[in-house]
Amino acid sequence: MCGGCCRRQRGPDEKARGRRCGSVFAVLALVASAVVAFLEGTAGGVSYAGEGWFHECAKWDAEGARFLASTFFGGGVAEVRGDGEGGAWGEEQVVMADPDVKGRVALGLAVDAPRRRVLVVYADRPPRFGYAALGAYELGSWRRLFLTRLDAPGESTFADDVAADEDGNAYVTDSMGCKIWKLSPDGEPLGVIKNATFVQRTGPLNNFVGLNGIVYHPNGYLLVVHTSGGDLFKVDPKTGSLSVVDVRGSLKQGDGLELLSPTRLAVAGMPSRLVESSDDWETATVTGRYVGPIHRIGSSATVKDGDVYINHIVGFGLGKKKTHIIARAVFAPLAAAS
Ligand SMILES: *[C@@H]1O[C@H](CO)[C@@H](O)[C@H](O)[C@H]1NC(C)=O
Repeated sequence: MCGGCCRRQRGPDEKARGRRCGSVFAVLALVASAVVAFLEGTAGGVSYAGEGWFHECAKWDAEGARFLASTFFGGGVAEVRGDGEGGAWGEEQVVMADPDVKGRVALGLAVDAPRRRVLVVYADRPPRFGYAALGAYELGSWRRLFLTRLDAPGESTFADDVAADEDGNAYVTDSMGCKIWKLSPDGEPLGVIKNATFVQRTGPLNNFVGLNGIVYHPNGYLLVVHTSGGDLFKVDPKTGSLSVVDVRGSLKQGDGLELLSPTRLAVAGMPSRLVESSDDWETATVTGRYVGPIHRIGSSATVKDGDVYINHIVGFGLGKKKTHIIARAVFAPLAAAS
């Protein structure tokens, strides 16, 4: 609206108009940044400049002392380093963009630390829902170890998140088909875990986004959340048998997961929640809640130095680089008997 008159500044009148436009623009920018600052007043944690509006997932890589974030339309991974003092983490550096997935989006990401590699989930660029793949890359060199196509011909899918077990098998959720793809440590497809039990509630509102965040529990099972339904499942990856975790409290809109200990699980989302179980995840209770910068949409959780950090999908800013936030979550305790 203002751009045209600000660009043409010739006569003295037009110069004055240009100054007015400039100051109106400056005031608008100030108001906008004040609103964002207000909304983000409790954020804390990490703020960095990065390419593009969307970053779906960020995980702490302890060995490299950096966050690794999936770059959505960038189709790859960026690293974020910094001293962390005052939230100054500088700019992201893109460390990997796989040319074979150009035009797709990069979503869930897992650091498979024992094997020193990173697993990255790729999906079609919405509103297309076909292509699904998992890539594995060496942590230091970013050499690709495998790129495995997961969707069957003609199938509608939306691959979303990934977890690895202690042997390096990988498990990828399909939030559209409500199933889990299994892959060997070398990236060979090992079949799918699909079960009507994953759909606990009927209706499109309860199934808009299905199976999403996934973690591997050291006792040998997967925990996976159904985002729209809010149900948490405990899945035996070997047999495919599963049960619904009886959760006291709501996990609706739960997205990425991270285990803090065998009994405590962080669930990123709107809001992010802390869930605890004392019976090996037969039952569980939502014990904490963290809202954070809600307009940015919390989407994944990770642990750095014992603290939970929540990645937010949406970056903001007027320039080419957007400001992205990985907020340190302080969970407000909830009454145990909710
Ligand atoms: C679905 O899960 C239930 C509960 O574990 C199990 O009894 C059933 O056999 C499973 N169905 C399939 C098709 O795997």
